[in-house]
Amino acid sequence: MMTNWKFNTLAVHSEQSPDEKSGAVSQPIIPAVAYSFEDADAAVAVVSGEIDGRYYGRYGNPTTRTLEKKMATLEGAEDALGVSSGMAAISIALMAHLSSGDHVVVTKDVYGGTHKFLSTIAPRYGMEHDFVDCTSMACVESAIKGNTRAVYIETPSNPSLTLIDIKAVAKITKRHNIALIVDNTFMTPYLQKPLELGADVVVHSATKYLNGHGDVVAGIICGEKKDIDYMRKDVMGDLGQNLNAWESFLILRGIKTLGIRLEKHCRNAQKVAEFLEMHPFVDKVYYPGLESHPQHLLAKQQMKKMGGIVSFEVKGGVQAGKDFISALKIALISFSLGDPETLVQHPASMTHSSIPDDLLAEFGIAKGLIRLSVGLEDVEDIISDLEQALLSVAVTVNK
Ligand SMILES: Cc1ncc(COP(=O)(O)O)c(C=O)c1O
Repeated sequence: MMTNWKFNTLAVHSEQSPDEKSGAVSQPIIPAVAYSFEDADAAVAVVSGEIDGRYYGRYGNPTTRTLEKKMATLEGAEDALGVSSGMAAISIALMAHLSSGDHVVVTKDVYGGTHKFLSTIAPRYGMEHDFVDCTSMACVESAIKGNTRAVYIETPSNPSLTLIDIKAVAKITKRHNIALIVDNTFMTPYLQKPLELGADVVVHSATKYLNGHGDVVAGIICGEKKDIDYMRKDVMGDLGQNLNAWESFLILRGIKTLGIRLEKHCRNAQKVAEFLEMHPFVDKVYYPGLESHPQHLLAKQQMKKMGGIVSFEVKGGVQAGKDFISALKIALISFSLGDPETLVQHPASMTHSSIPDDLLAEFGIAKGLIRLSVGLEDVEDIISDLEQALLSVAVTVNK
């Protein structure tokens, strides 16, 4: 690997070369659970971590290892760990940093699954949390207590696309000698590099843009080697949250086109956001690429481009929002994001339904908010679809 390779060259070539035996260019899929050793000492050396190698499928796999090394390269991390889902990545990273009696500061409008994990399962094991407005450094600073071990943020957030200044939060966490964990799912390393901005751990739902084709559930954690080793051996492996070879192969394949896919997602999303902002039947549009976004300047500083997710409120409230998504013909109503297809959803009744109404309001998630994952179709077709659905709802509401 050349040290001066740029992102797309690394995405295609790093950690991958033709198979020595067959000459096959694409990554071999090795489903083996068991691995043999020359002698007993070699087995001990691999299990103890003295030599890098696989020994039992629950603790790692060779195809997954290629993916882990590639992700470490792309995020600029010492090492990475492939796991069974984005929620596995998030829960493993949190469990590795918190013991019973420890506390984590968490950004307010966090992904619904992360909110649920922290407010239902984690407290049963003594892990404390506070949901805090992490756009304000004064709020982050004052939320840190004697037993705080980490700050957990997501930027831009799901679904309201609020940004958090990673560099500024990292200054605070470094001063307090606690970990900064960043969910980089919406951006991927192509658009944002949290570790370069001072974060300690990056978590991903690889289910989204990294795989990019809507056919894998997976997660990745990137960070320091000693942290990743601990997460592999003492959390992921013991809890059985490992990723399998076939899914690792699919993500490796997806990553080869990550750059070109994201360029198109971002171009389409910018045009869609500009269209929605001008539309008389739309109340409010949330997209970091719009000058009207309150953190547009921060977005330009810490993100390469503005991403593929656009959120907005349709005039007429919750029912109009639901009627609107039902009237769409290209965009599919779906819980996921980051796929070639344009996907739409209503967070209050779908991805964030586990969050109580009063908290949704406090987190700035309007009940009529709609989240659009802008796909790879021709943008004129996506916009015509939005236009016909907006018109049909406008007619019903004005009757
Ligand atoms: C920002 C973010 N993080 C994490 C997750 C969880 O990922 P997974 O569904 O792969 O567990 C999601 C899922 O939508 C997400 O949007």
